[in-house]
Amino acid sequence: MTPAGSGARRTRARTEVRLLTPDDAGPLARLLSGDWGFLAPFEPERDPAHFTAAGQAELVERLLAEHAAGRTVPFAIVHEGELVGRSTLSNVVRGPAQHADLGYFVAEAVNGRGVATEAVARTVEAAFGELGLHRLQAGTLLSNSASQAVLQRNGFERIGVARGYLRIAGRWQDHVLYQRTA
Ligand SMILES: CC(C)(COP(=O)(O)OP(=O)(O)OC[C@H]1O[C@@H](n2cnc3c(N)ncnc32)[C@H](O)[C@@H]1OP(=O)(O)O)[C@@H](O)C(=O)NCCC(=O)NCCS
Repeated sequence: MTPAGSGARRTRARTEVRLLTPDDAGPLARLLSGDWGFLAPFEPERDPAHFTAAGQAELVERLLAEHAAGRTVPFAIVHEGELVGRSTLSNVVRGPAQHADLGYFVAEAVNGRGVATEAVARTVEAAFGELGLHRLQAGTLLSNSASQAVLQRNGFERIGVARGYLRIAGRWQDHVLYQRTA
Protein backbone atom coordinates (compact mmCIF):
# COMPACT_ATOMS: atom_id res chain seq x y z
CA MET A 1 0.00 0.00 0.00
CA THR A 2 1.41 3.41 -1.00
CA PRO A 3 1.34 6.27 1.53
CA ALA A 4 -1.34 7.96 -0.64
CA GLY A 5 -3.34 4.75 -0.70
CA SER A 6 -3.26 4.24 3.05
CA GLY A 7 -4.25 7.92 3.50
CA ALA A 8 -7.25 7.42 1.26
CA ARG A 9 -8.19 4.33 3.23
CA ARG A 10 -8.04 6.27 6.51
CA THR A 11 -10.30 8.98 5.03
CA ARG A 12 -12.80 6.33 3.96
CA ALA A 13 -12.85 4.78 7.41
CA ARG A 14 -13.63 8.18 8.97
CA THR A 15 -16.65 9.08 6.82
CA GLU A 16 -20.04 7.42 7.12
CA VAL A 17 -23.70 8.18 6.49
CA ARG A 18 -26.59 7.46 8.83
CA LEU A 19 -30.27 8.39 8.86
CA LEU A 20 -30.89 12.00 9.89
CA THR A 21 -32.33 12.47 13.42
CA PRO A 22 -34.09 15.42 15.13
CA ASP A 23 -30.86 16.03 17.11
CA ASP A 24 -29.14 17.01 13.84
CA ALA A 25 -31.20 20.21 13.49
CA GLY A 26 -28.89 22.41 15.60
CA PRO A 27 -25.62 21.27 13.97
CA LEU A 28 -27.22 21.59 10.50
CA ALA A 29 -28.34 25.16 11.24
CA ARG A 30 -24.82 26.06 12.38
CA LEU A 31 -23.24 24.46 9.31
CA LEU A 32 -25.64 26.14 6.87
CA SER A 33 -25.39 29.60 8.42
CA GLY A 34 -21.59 29.41 8.73
CA ASP A 35 -21.01 28.05 5.23
CA TRP A 36 -23.74 29.79 3.25
CA GLY A 37 -21.24 31.92 1.36
CA PHE A 38 -19.69 28.69 0.08
CA LEU A 39 -22.92 26.73 -0.52
CA ALA A 40 -25.25 29.44 -1.89
CA PRO A 41 -24.15 29.25 -5.57
CA PHE A 42 -25.20 25.55 -5.62
CA GLU A 43 -28.43 25.78 -3.61
CA PRO A 44 -31.97 27.11 -4.05
CA GLU A 45 -32.63 30.48 -2.42
CA ARG A 46 -33.67 29.96 1.21
CA ASP A 47 -35.82 31.79 3.76
CA PRO A 48 -34.03 33.14 6.87
CA ALA A 49 -35.69 30.33 8.90
CA HIS A 50 -33.60 27.78 6.99
CA PHE A 51 -30.54 28.88 8.99
CA THR A 52 -32.10 28.49 12.45
CA ALA A 53 -32.34 25.38 14.63
CA ALA A 54 -36.14 25.72 14.58
CA GLY A 55 -36.21 25.91 10.78
CA GLN A 56 -33.93 22.90 10.45
CA ALA A 57 -36.02 21.01 13.04
CA GLU A 58 -39.06 21.59 10.82
CA LEU A 59 -37.14 20.45 7.74
CA VAL A 60 -35.81 17.31 9.49
CA GLU A 61 -39.34 16.50 10.69
CA ARG A 62 -40.66 16.84 7.11
CA LEU A 63 -37.84 14.70 5.70
CA LEU A 64 -38.43 11.98 8.32
CA ALA A 65 -42.16 12.00 7.53
CA GLU A 66 -41.30 11.60 3.83
CA HIS A 67 -38.94 8.79 4.84
CA ALA A 68 -41.73 7.05 6.74
CA ALA A 69 -43.87 7.37 3.60
CA GLY A 70 -41.10 5.82 1.48
CA ARG A 71 -40.46 8.92 -0.64
CA THR A 72 -37.15 10.20 0.77
CA VAL A 73 -34.07 8.81 2.54
CA PRO A 74 -32.22 11.65 4.30
CA PHE A 75 -28.70 10.85 5.53
CA ALA A 76 -26.36 12.81 7.77
CA ILE A 77 -22.74 12.75 6.55
CA VAL A 78 -20.52 12.17 9.59
CA HIS A 79 -16.76 12.66 9.40
CA GLU A 80 -14.58 11.94 12.43
CA GLY A 81 -17.73 11.93 14.57
CA GLU A 82 -18.93 15.39 13.40
CA LEU A 83 -21.93 16.11 11.19
CA VAL A 84 -20.38 17.70 8.09
CA GLY A 85 -23.16 17.50 5.52
CA ARG A 86 -26.21 15.78 4.13
CA SER A 87 -26.78 13.23 1.43
CA THR A 88 -30.38 12.67 0.35
CA LEU A 89 -32.24 10.22 -1.84
CA SER A 90 -35.45 11.98 -2.90
CA ASN A 91 -38.33 11.40 -5.30
CA VAL A 92 -38.15 7.67 -4.63
CA VAL A 93 -40.27 5.92 -7.26
CA ARG A 94 -41.06 2.21 -7.01
CA GLY A 95 -42.83 0.04 -9.64
CA PRO A 96 -40.84 -0.49 -12.83
CA ALA A 97 -38.62 2.58 -12.20
CA GLN A 98 -37.09 1.81 -8.74
CA HIS A 99 -35.46 5.24 -9.03
CA ALA A 100 -34.32 8.09 -6.76
CA ASP A 101 -32.62 11.47 -7.15
CA LEU A 102 -29.37 11.97 -5.24
CA GLY A 103 -28.24 15.28 -3.72
CA TYR A 104 -25.51 16.20 -1.22
CA PHE A 105 -23.40 18.94 0.30
CA VAL A 106 -20.31 18.93 2.50
CA ALA A 107 -18.99 21.63 4.87
CA GLU A 108 -16.35 23.90 3.38
CA ALA A 109 -13.83 23.06 6.14
CA VAL A 110 -13.60 19.40 5.08
CA ASN A 111 -13.78 19.92 1.31
CA GLY A 112 -11.19 18.24 -0.89
CA ARG A 113 -10.53 15.29 1.45
CA GLY A 114 -12.70 12.70 -0.24
CA VAL A 115 -15.57 13.12 2.21
CA ALA A 116 -18.28 13.56 -0.46
CA THR A 117 -16.84 10.73 -2.55
CA GLU A 118 -17.06 8.39 0.42
CA ALA A 119 -20.49 9.65 1.54
CA VAL A 120 -21.88 9.11 -1.97
CA ALA A 121 -20.35 5.61 -2.02
CA ARG A 122 -22.11 4.74 1.25
CA THR A 123 -25.39 6.29 -0.01
CA VAL A 124 -25.20 4.28 -3.24
CA GLU A 125 -24.57 1.10 -1.22
CA ALA A 126 -27.70 1.74 0.84
CA ALA A 127 -29.74 2.60 -2.27
CA PHE A 128 -28.84 -0.54 -4.21
CA GLY A 129 -28.59 -2.74 -1.08
CA GLU A 130 -31.19 -2.48 1.67
CA LEU A 131 -33.43 -0.07 -0.29
CA GLY A 132 -33.49 -2.26 -3.40
CA LEU A 133 -33.42 0.64 -5.88
CA HIS A 134 -32.28 0.15 -9.48
CA ARG A 135 -31.29 3.63 -10.69
CA LEU A 136 -29.97 6.86 -9.15
CA GLN A 137 -29.84 10.22 -10.91
CA ALA A 138 -27.92 13.36 -9.92
CA GLY A 139 -27.62 16.74 -11.59
CA THR A 140 -24.79 19.24 -11.21
CA LEU A 141 -24.33 22.77 -12.49
CA LEU A 142 -22.21 22.75 -15.63
CA SER A 143 -19.40 24.48 -13.71
CA ASN A 144 -19.47 22.19 -10.65
CA SER A 145 -16.37 20.13 -11.46
CA ALA A 146 -15.93 18.96 -7.87
CA SER A 147 -19.39 17.40 -7.79
CA GLN A 148 -18.89 15.89 -11.25
CA ALA A 149 -15.65 14.30 -10.01
CA VAL A 150 -17.50 12.84 -7.02
CA LEU A 151 -20.14 11.27 -9.28
CA GLN A 152 -17.67 9.95 -11.84
CA ARG A 153 -15.53 8.36 -9.14
CA ASN A 154 -18.67 6.62 -7.90
CA GLY A 155 -19.43 5.06 -11.27
CA PHE A 156 -22.08 7.52 -12.45
CA GLU A 157 -22.28 8.06 -16.21
CA ARG A 158 -23.13 11.35 -17.91
CA ILE A 159 -26.57 11.40 -19.52
CA GLY A 160 -26.47 14.90 -20.98
CA VAL A 161 -27.43 18.51 -20.33
CA ALA A 162 -30.95 19.37 -19.14
CA ARG A 163 -31.70 23.02 -19.92
CA GLY A 164 -33.17 25.12 -17.11
CA TYR A 165 -33.39 22.00 -14.92
CA LEU A 166 -33.46 23.54 -11.40
CA ARG A 167 -33.88 26.99 -9.91
CA ILE A 168 -30.52 27.44 -8.17
CA ALA A 169 -29.30 30.68 -6.56
CA GLY A 170 -32.43 32.38 -7.91
CA ARG A 171 -32.04 31.36 -11.58
CA TRP A 172 -33.28 28.45 -13.68
CA GLN A 173 -29.98 26.83 -14.48
CA ASP A 174 -28.81 24.14 -16.89
CA HIS A 175 -27.54 20.93 -15.25
CA VAL A 176 -25.47 17.97 -16.36
CA LEU A 177 -27.45 14.85 -15.47
CA TYR A 178 -25.69 11.67 -14.35
CA GLN A 179 -27.03 8.23 -13.57
CA ARG A 180 -25.88 4.98 -12.10
CA THR A 181 -27.78 1.71 -12.22
CA ALA A 182 -27.39 -1.16 -9.76
C1 LIG B 1 -19.26 19.21 -4.40
C2 LIG B 1 -18.87 18.80 -2.98
C3 LIG B 1 -19.99 17.91 -2.42
C4 LIG B 1 -17.55 18.05 -3.02
O1 LIG B 1 -17.23 17.64 -1.70
P1 LIG B 1 -15.74 17.12 -1.31
O2 LIG B 1 -15.85 16.41 -0.01
O3 LIG B 1 -14.79 18.24 -1.41
O4 LIG B 1 -15.50 16.10 -2.49
P2 LIG B 1 -14.27 15.09 -2.63
O5 LIG B 1 -13.10 15.59 -1.85
O6 LIG B 1 -14.77 13.71 -2.37
O7 LIG B 1 -13.97 15.16 -4.20
C5 LIG B 1 -13.90 16.39 -4.85
C6 LIG B 1 -13.06 16.23 -6.08
O8 LIG B 1 -13.24 17.34 -6.94
C7 LIG B 1 -11.98 17.92 -7.21
N1 LIG B 1 -12.21 19.35 -7.36
C8 LIG B 1 -12.47 20.26 -6.41
N2 LIG B 1 -12.62 21.47 -6.95
C9 LIG B 1 -12.45 21.32 -8.28
C10 LIG B 1 -12.45 22.19 -9.38
N3 LIG B 1 -12.70 23.49 -9.24
N4 LIG B 1 -12.20 21.67 -10.61
C11 LIG B 1 -11.99 20.36 -10.79
N5 LIG B 1 -11.97 19.47 -9.77
C12 LIG B 1 -12.21 19.95 -8.54
C13 LIG B 1 -11.15 17.60 -6.02
O9 LIG B 1 -9.78 17.71 -6.35
C14 LIG B 1 -11.58 16.19 -5.76
O10 LIG B 1 -11.01 15.27 -6.66
P3 LIG B 1 -9.64 14.48 -6.32
O11 LIG B 1 -9.87 13.80 -5.00
O12 LIG B 1 -9.50 13.55 -7.46
O13 LIG B 1 -8.59 15.52 -6.23
C15 LIG B 1 -18.71 20.04 -2.05
O14 LIG B 1 -17.75 20.92 -2.62
C16 LIG B 1 -19.99 20.82 -1.84
O15 LIG B 1 -20.76 20.52 -0.93
N6 LIG B 1 -20.21 21.86 -2.65
C17 LIG B 1 -21.35 22.73 -2.52
C18 LIG B 1 -22.68 22.01 -2.73
C19 LIG B 1 -22.68 21.17 -3.97
O16 LIG B 1 -22.10 21.49 -4.97
N7 LIG B 1 -23.38 20.03 -3.88
C20 LIG B 1 -23.51 19.13 -5.02
C21 LIG B 1 -24.60 19.62 -5.91
S1 LIG B 1 -24.68 18.63 -7.36
